[in-house]
Amino acid sequence: MNRGFFITFEGGDGSGKSTQIGILRDSLTAKGYDVVLTREPGGTEISEKIRELILDPANSEMDDMTEAFLYAAARAQLVRQLIKPALEEGKVVICDRFVDSSIAYQAYGRGLGDAVGVINTYAVDDCMPDLTILLKLDPEKGSGRIAGREHDRIEQASDEFHRKVYEGYLKLEEMYPGRILGVDASGTIQEIAEEISLRVEGLMER
Ligand code: TYD
Repeated sequence: MNRGFFITFEGGDGSGKSTQIGILRDSLTAKGYDVVLTREPGGTEISEKIRELILDPANSEMDDMTEAFLYAAARAQLVRQLIKPALEEGKVVICDRFVDSSIAYQAYGRGLGDAVGVINTYAVDDCMPDLTILLKLDPEKGSGRIAGREHDRIEQASDEFHRKVYEGYLKLEEMYPGRILGVDASGTIQEIAEEISLRVEGLMER
């Protein structure tokens, strides 16, 4: 298989994820890699429409299970329309959030448990990341960093929800130490970028 390389970023709200994604994208592009940057939920026309539906604060009646299916639906489309084809062409795909978000937010945060993993087996279709960067920041600090912004439907959830999401991420990190690199997101931008870059280079040289 002439497969590319699939990297995902995870972390709670306000963990500095976008900044680190931008830095990694620029450095890989400068080294000559063909990089495709995408995000979840979204990344294709259909998935972006599903995103609007999920995040709209007006949809306060949405059932947790509906939410889990919608994230998985957006993911199924993104995997088949964009991620798999790009990897088959040997590109590096960087995705802002992926299936670990559903495990952390829907399985742990919403308390839906194992159902979320089951649904997502079909959505992901064997297309798992080679590397997942988890930016770890205490949820109270994260919510402080996004305090000034308008909040979407998920960001509006309670502190207790975000605490459970964070604990979910820590469990995932423990379960998949080979795939998930947990990074302390309270470090400086430069420190974090270096830690990420070291791991990415190590893996890509292989
Ligand atoms: P976004 O604005 O992209 O958040 P961020 O900048 O923090 O990445 O909104 C995505 C929101 O959706 C975010 O709060 C996390 C949540 N989410 C889930 O609950 N489950 C999922 O499977 C995914 C991909 C995201």
